Amino acid sequence: MIHSKIIGTGSYLPKKILTNHDLELMVDTTDDWIRSRTGIVQRHIAADGEMASDMALNASREAMDASGIKAGEIDLIIVATTTPDMIFPSTACILQNKLGIKGSAAFDMQAVCSGFIYALTTADMFIRSGKYRTALVVGTEIYSRLLDWNDRSTCVLFGDGAGAVLMTQSNQPGILSSHLRADGSQHKVLSATGSSCGGKVQGNPFLTMEGSVVFKFAVKVLTEIAHETVIGSNLQMSDIDWLIPHQANIRIIQSTAKKLDIPMEKVITTVDKHGNTSAASIPLALDIAVRDGRIKQDQHILLESVGAGFTWGATLVRW
Ligand code: ACO
Repeated sequence: MIHSKIIGTGSYLPKKILTNHDLELMVDTTDDWIRSRTGIVQRHIAADGEMASDMALNASREAMDASGIKAGEIDLIIVATTTPDMIFPSTACILQNKLGIKGSAAFDMQAVCSGFIYALTTADMFIRSGKYRTALVVGTEIYSRLLDWNDRSTCVLFGDGAGAVLMTQSNQPGILSSHLRADGSQHKVLSATGSSCGGKVQGNPFLTMEGSVVFKFAVKVLTEIAHETVIGSNLQMSDIDWLIPHQANIRIIQSTAKKLDIPMEKVITTVDKHGNTSAASIPLALDIAVRDGRIKQDQHILLESVGAGFTWGATLVRW
């Protein structure tokens, strides 16, 4: 039986750091408000001209180095992003070109903050079916360009960055199980409604959200999907060595961990340093925990996310 396994991780953060104190000079906010409501202390901001594909390339190169996989061996590229370089072609195709390869399948995945879980699940399916052997799965986001920097209720929450994993066929299961869900009836709660028509942006080009609705929904579905995924794999929550949740807000993370009875010592958090990097947040956090040695062979890692749509999902990995 063919399984899929993550064999290398990588990440990239733009050089520019924007602290809460910097934001105090831009909008009517305080470091204390942002820290206490979200856990965020700073976030990275892409340079002018830096594109989602550039950040994806840097993260991908790290994942390739870590796995020993050469670009020419990749036969599937999936890029999870809500902030693509352009309307089309896909950021995945642009990344493929920057990697100096052609011929592999390449497409973008649009599931907002759940994009990486959706992309990982899709790559797992392709690999397990035998269709592709080696997949590059990337989350890359430049939310700084989707934000109204005069709106204190949203501009303090997000950051830019990219994370990547390389997956390949394996005799032993690496991805144990994945579950994806969506509820489109809630699509207005968190959205960027702008669209292009007649050469002009129509609608609001900035992200808007009903923060408290997102908060409550996130804790509910993240708890449910974690149970569904772990129990569906015949494991107990106590078997989980690391929880890597989407990094939107430390209070969402803490509330979910508490409901799951997972101590915070087993939760990887990067929201303080990165803010919410949407589809990039899980692969970024994963890469950091792999590189600092917290994640070890044979451990069980639960990845889970919720995002606009709403979309949500979880993936259970044996490392
Ligand atoms: N600085 C100071 N005050 C602020 C700020 C700010 N940056 N932003 C809002 N406020 C004010 C509001 O205007 C409001 O003032 P008022 O009472 O005078 O009207 C007050 O703070 C309270 O606002 P609330 O929205 O009730 O604050 P809350 O405690 O709910 O926290 C937050 C807001 C942090 C957005 C929270 O609802 C949240 O985290 N929601 C989850 C949303 C999220 O994480 N979204 C990310 C994308 S979705 C995803 O990735 C899953």
